[in-house]
Amino acid sequence: MSRQFMELRGKLRAGSPVMTALVVGVLVVGAGCSDGGGNWGGALQEEAAEEVSALLVAHRGASAYAPEHTLAAYELAIDQGADYVEPDLQITRDGVLIALHDLTLNRTTDVELVFPDRFRVDTVRGEPVQRWYANDFDLEEILRLDAGAWFGEEFAGARVPLFSEVIDVVRGRAGIFAETKAPEVYGDRGFDMERLVLVELSQHGLDRPGADPDTPIVIQSFSAASLRILRDELGTELPLTYLISGPDAEDWLSAEGLIRVRAFATGIAPTKSLLVNRPEVVARAHDAGLTVIPWTFGASRADQFDSLREEMARFLVDLGVDGLITNNPDLFPR
Ligand code: G3P
Ligand code: CA
Repeated sequence: MSRQFMELRGKLRAGSPVMTALVVGVLVVGAGCSDGGGNWGGALQEEAAEEVSALLVAHRGASAYAPEHTLAAYELAIDQGADYVEPDLQITRDGVLIALHDLTLNRTTDVELVFPDRFRVDTVRGEPVQRWYANDFDLEEILRLDAGAWFGEEFAGARVPLFSEVIDVVRGRAGIFAETKAPEVYGDRGFDMERLVLVELSQHGLDRPGADPDTPIVIQSFSAASLRILRDELGTELPLTYLISGPDAEDWLSAEGLIRVRAFATGIAPTKSLLVNRPEVVARAHDAGLTVIPWTFGASRADQFDSLREEMARFLVDLGVDGLITNNPDLFPR
């Protein structure tokens, strides 16, 4: 592992309120791991006692147990030991950052009941589809929506949180792994998502690495352009993570591709399936000075493994990734 990488990982972890200790020896590991033809698999020894530190990033909060991107989901994630919570960011019509995964409100709120006529009609595979875009609503309107009942009646009344509220709730208890979501879409509508994110962080005194050791900040994106704007145009020194999936993944994960990533990011977050058949990518990324934090680990889809805990342990120990993004923080192996 290169010295450059060790320093980077140290910075990413500096201030992490919970340094996760994974004691391999206590894990009972089944035989369910498929090595997919690579070097991956089979290295865990039940008797071995090795300590590995890794970061637990709670995907949309503890989203297996509470409605994603509600304060309840973030609170639960922290209670379950998350090092970071992961808000996706969208922008309201009046320019306020909110925590929401989709561009639209209809999957996770009751917008169709509250504002039945406020949809746009998109054409999908030749068919008209009604969509309630968050950016067509002012914050005051979005705050009238119920973002919890879809998940369970006990969460009825939960609101879509502002990014500023997420920061206030999480501050001092965990880090924030914030994602600029669809920044190009918002750019087309006249919004500068990257600037809004940095302004919000600045207003909380969190726009510099190490500003609050109890609340480390990472910004992530599927958009390389968004990360380049953050680094080159806006000059942030915060850790930046490039989310990798889709048809370009192979190219980005090559040795040459990872060096290109290093020009605008400090880490990669590939979808977990990309690493299963390419375990060498982890060392390659480390050699390029990049951290590696794959996604998304969930009990409902612990592919090829007997349990989610086992799957996460395999990625941490066999592959040597630096952390995991999971819907089930309570099942993170420690
Ligand atoms: O941070 C990784 C993960 O959040 C990316 O996927 O679609 O859940 O935002 P998505
Ligand atoms: Ca995300």
